[in-house]
Amino acid sequence: MPATKTKIPEAFQITQEIHQGTYLVNGELRKWEGSTTPVVSTISSTNDYAPTTLGSIPDMGEPEAMEALDAALAAYDKGQGVWPTMKVKDRIECMESFVKKMEQKRDEVVKLLMWEIGKSLPDSYKEFDRTVEYIYDTIEEYKQLDRDSAKFQKHDGVYAHIRRGPLGVVLCLGPYNYPLNETFALLIPAIIMGNTTVFKPAKHGVLLITPLLEAFKSSFPKGVVNILFGRGRAVAAPIMKTGKIDVLALIGNSKSANALQEQHPKSNRLRLVLGLEAKNPAIVLPDADLDLTINECIAGTLSFNGQRCTALKVVYVHEDIKEEFLKRFSEKVDALKFGNPWDEGVNLTPLPEPGKPAYIQELLDDAKTKGAKVMNKKGGKHFDNYIWPAVLYPVSKDMRVYEEEQFGPIIPVVSFKDIEEPLDDMAESNYGQQVSLFGKDVYTLSPLIDSLANLVCRVNLNSSCQRGPDVYPFTGRKDSAQSTLSVHDALRSFSIRTFVAFKDNDLNNETIEQLLEAKVSNFLSTDYIL
Ligand code: G3H
Repeated sequence: MPATKTKIPEAFQITQEIHQGTYLVNGELRKWEGSTTPVVSTISSTNDYAPTTLGSIPDMGEPEAMEALDAALAAYDKGQGVWPTMKVKDRIECMESFVKKMEQKRDEVVKLLMWEIGKSLPDSYKEFDRTVEYIYDTIEEYKQLDRDSAKFQKHDGVYAHIRRGPLGVVLCLGPYNYPLNETFALLIPAIIMGNTTVFKPAKHGVLLITPLLEAFKSSFPKGVVNILFGRGRAVAAPIMKTGKIDVLALIGNSKSANALQEQHPKSNRLRLVLGLEAKNPAIVLPDADLDLTINECIAGTLSFNGQRCTALKVVYVHEDIKEEFLKRFSEKVDALKFGNPWDEGVNLTPLPEPGKPAYIQELLDDAKTKGAKVMNKKGGKHFDNYIWPAVLYPVSKDMRVYEEEQFGPIIPVVSFKDIEEPLDDMAESNYGQQVSLFGKDVYTLSPLIDSLANLVCRVNLNSSCQRGPDVYPFTGRKDSAQSTLSVHDALRSFSIRTFVAFKDNDLNNETIEQLLEAKVSNFLSTDYIL
């Protein structure tokens, strides 16, 4: 059959490959002359399946990593740089200039989000818009933080003017499932608080950063944002080895985080802002409203094919309702629509990692040999770039799918008789991000909520797990996270309280009055940003 492009709307067709030939270091878009890595989408452009080449990115190594680190160190200049000492108002202006330029790139970024990671059109728009909103909210929050600091306190005869100051140089690494949102939820607060940064995009979702390089370059002083391309091992590891990184900000898996942390020779100096794996459970009680529960469990397990750190990755269902739950849930899974990201009403989309269907198949085979059955008719069916989500039951603790964070379309279901069973499993688990609890009886729910709140960091009542709205704290216990992110918390995670103190006497009071009147200190100031 001849290859055609008829099914892809014109606006989303790949008419020209993007060969990213520059990288951002020290305020310059430097030309890359070295080797490159092709960027290939698992989505086909033709009727006969074939992956689509989207372009290429630089395959950088240690010399470029050192250039970027040196630029960030020079821009920080031991805390004396233009950026860390700049007035808050001026830093905010730079950020406003950036976000305005970014907004103009919406369509370009959304198109690449679909091709590079297979995110559906509405979800890609949502990721972009949510990120823009996050930046505006961060600006507002920072203004408020600054207003709250524009004062003096006095205790025991000592005055204090307390602000939040930057930490230094931040190495920022984001995940492929939210290459824009999660990455920027680290990068933006890090920058605005006066830190300087080195940023490397994730393994998928890289080209979509390239339309924004010019905006980063022209909005911030040189060296504040440095952007590298390549493999983490080749660029991030040598940077960590120098011991000159003050904050490792990473959303991804703990293996990479641990490997990078270990490279840093001065562990006390290194701050960690980490969002790592999770295995969020759903717990379905016998009195749960099954229509609502099934809809929430579908969204929780299969939004973006389960490739979310907040996805529901194991479903505990009370014995009394397991038959009905499994039947209706399985039917709903099979009624979902699989297609390309731009297809109308699509729920399931191609997996961006070429090896993912085979990995999911391994989990499936392992579970089957240990006694689990695939409950839905389409479960495990293979496509060129997909494997249909299998609802697996009964799942036991010796199965890989119970232990591993599947990060893809496969749904393990465990039944329970006594609520202590899922609670004990959660207490034993290495993870502690969120839980979804489905039920109605307040006398059953109340003690459960009290226990669950101490096992995870967000108990979602009759609702699937999620990060948003971004004003709420996003964190986890145990191996799931370090530090807290939210519009409010991230500004704190990327800064430290630092202050000027002086004893109450005539000399000091006069000096401070003169200092404030002269308006020459950017730190010591009672000016309000309106
Ligand atoms: O990958 C993890 C994300 O933080 C999930 O965010 O719950 O908004 O999809 P979300």
